[in-house]
Amino acid sequence: MDYLSINKATWDKRTDIHLESSFYDVQSFINGKCSLNPIEKELLGSVESLDLLHLQCHFGQDTLSLNRLGAKTTGVDLSSKAIAAANHLSSKLSLDANFFCDDIVQFGEKNDKQFDVVYTSYGVLCWLPDLSQWAKTISNALKSGGKFVLVEFHPINDLVQGYDYFEKSSADIEKEGTYTENCDGKESTIVTWSHSVSDVIQALIKTGLEIKQYIESPYSPYDCEQNLQYVDGKGFVKYHKGNLIPQIYAIQAIKK
Ligand SMILES: C[S@@+](CC[C@H](N)C(=O)[O-])C[C@H]1O[C@@H](n2cnc3c(N)ncnc32)[C@H](O)[C@@H]1O
Repeated sequence: MDYLSINKATWDKRTDIHLESSFYDVQSFINGKCSLNPIEKELLGSVESLDLLHLQCHFGQDTLSLNRLGAKTTGVDLSSKAIAAANHLSSKLSLDANFFCDDIVQFGEKNDKQFDVVYTSYGVLCWLPDLSQWAKTISNALKSGGKFVLVEFHPINDLVQGYDYFEKSSADIEKEGTYTENCDGKESTIVTWSHSVSDVIQALIKTGLEIKQYIESPYSPYDCEQNLQYVDGKGFVKYHKGNLIPQIYAIQAIKK
């Protein structure tokens, strides 16, 4: 199965929808709004003058927000539509980011540049079959002492919705709409994999990264699925049998 072509077609379709959505609110971004949330900003720290690689950057709002904060940014994404939109935004805003359209693992095999920071966030890992290759891409792209930051939706939330928590040998292949409010029943095929948190952590440790922080939170910054409730000033929550489900987790690690 050519999962990269299937997922690329889906993300190309989703990009068109996302660019028109209030969820991504591109006009506010153009007007100067930063798309980053407090949790990733805190874990990244100051990015002023740092060389930063953003993996699975979608159409580049976070990459360009980091650019506005003074980083020299490079974004990589599988979707050619997303990368075209990212390049368009970058030149419209007179920012100086580099964008590459590629599978992150294939990018990693060609890349010989080493970065101060590698960043990736929110809905990235389920598209990747092999976390050891993912972690190798990150480790090889980091300078010694460089920092890795991941902020991801918590897989316990997927478990509660009926998906596997632990990795299995086969992918989940489904038809699904996207997560923005304007999706309007437009479904496309997605090929995804489950990854437990321990598999993520172990993959990073095995490539020589030292985990400095691991954070879990019941508050998601995004209203991107059903049955979420908003808690003023904190974010979106969901309950299971009356108790809060972890919505997101974050890892900060340093390359030794
Ligand atoms: C949910 S989005 C990431 C969200 C992102 N933080 C944002 O700004 O909205 C997932 C992204 O992963 C990309 N993607 C999926 N599989 C990929 C792969 N194998 N290599 C590179 N990018 C991939 C998709 O094209 C999509 O843009």
